[in-house]
Amino acid sequence: MSVRILAIESSCDETAAAVVENGREVLSSVISSQIAIHKEYGGVVPEIASRQHIKAIDRVVDEALKNANISKKDIDAVAVTYGPGLVGALLVGLSWAKAFAYALNKPLIPVHHIEGHIAANYIQNKAWEPPFMCLVVSGGHTHLVNITGYRDMEILGKTRDDAAGEAFDKVARVIGIPYPGGPGIDKLSCEGDPDAISFPRATLEEGSYDFSFSGLKSAVLNYLNKAQMKGEEINRADVAASFQKAVTDVLCERAIRGCKDKGQTTLALAGGVTANKHLRAEISRACEENGIELCVPEPVLCTDNAAMIGSAAYYEYINGNIADLDLNAYPSLRLGETVTL
Ligand code: KG4
Ligand code: ZN
Repeated sequence: MSVRILAIESSCDETAAAVVENGREVLSSVISSQIAIHKEYGGVVPEIASRQHIKAIDRVVDEALKNANISKKDIDAVAVTYGPGLVGALLVGLSWAKAFAYALNKPLIPVHHIEGHIAANYIQNKAWEPPFMCLVVSGGHTHLVNITGYRDMEILGKTRDDAAGEAFDKVARVIGIPYPGGPGIDKLSCEGDPDAISFPRATLEEGSYDFSFSGLKSAVLNYLNKAQMKGEEINRADVAASFQKAVTDVLCERAIRGCKDKGQTTLALAGGVTANKHLRAEISRACEENGIELCVPEPVLCTDNAAMIGSAAYYEYINGNIADLDLNAYPSLRLGETVTL
């Protein structure tokens, strides 16, 4: 029997809805991005994000249902991201999903945003299943996770300060690339020399899988300040390429070491930063060298979308994880943490 889930995602600056069948088949996926609005302010303004979600959500869901050619009553369950994210933004999707669940008497499935990012791999590769190693790199999270089951994981490492995406966005800002900086750095890097400037790769204690990007971010700022004081011309493309390589080297090293140490022969990528062309190429090369099978979701599945939420929700649904209508939003929900409802 098919299970069709309507999924809603509104944790940051994308209002998204999707209909997903049996966790793997995307019947529709609609994403309304607010980037153009937040760009003016150099980053996401939480209050504006909430208001834009309210404006967009009815239209986005209607379009998702229409594109999937399905009526509301034929949906088996409604899934929603309940954390982590901006609280006001999360509450818009959550309230919408609760109203839908109540009005149509459908089960409500709570989904962790990052578990959604990981599940993007189940859509990308229909045969992909746990166990596998997963490198999660988004705007707010950087994790190396050993996925042992659809709902089980062991966190090997995480960032001790900035997330990789945050570093991309901050460095982009200082070299004059508009928000969100990641795609801009990705593009500008193609014209630069990644070996032009030697930026630091944070080495933590032996054997640690953790990440740290704040030192790298400061090194870029120092480099720019010094060059400016000396009146030297800055090659922005070289700065972008060298910074990007420093991030990629660290992400790649942790992911491959994690696979080797845990005896995993499969690696998956998740989160917005994994849309980065250089990172994808480097990891793909390293996996080939080490005999590791790699799953890389296409870029639109790496950045925020609701299809990934619908996929993760399926595994919650078949395991009976149904929320009550008093489900709240949890802006700081940690990976692997489920709130007892
Ligand atoms: O996963 P995501 O869409 O949202 C969060 O859950 O945070 O990730 C957004 C982050 C932003 O920091 C953005 O700059 C970064 O992903 N990003 C990229 C690229 N595309 C998006 N970073 C590097 N290269 C890209 N091509
Ligand atoms: Zn995300």
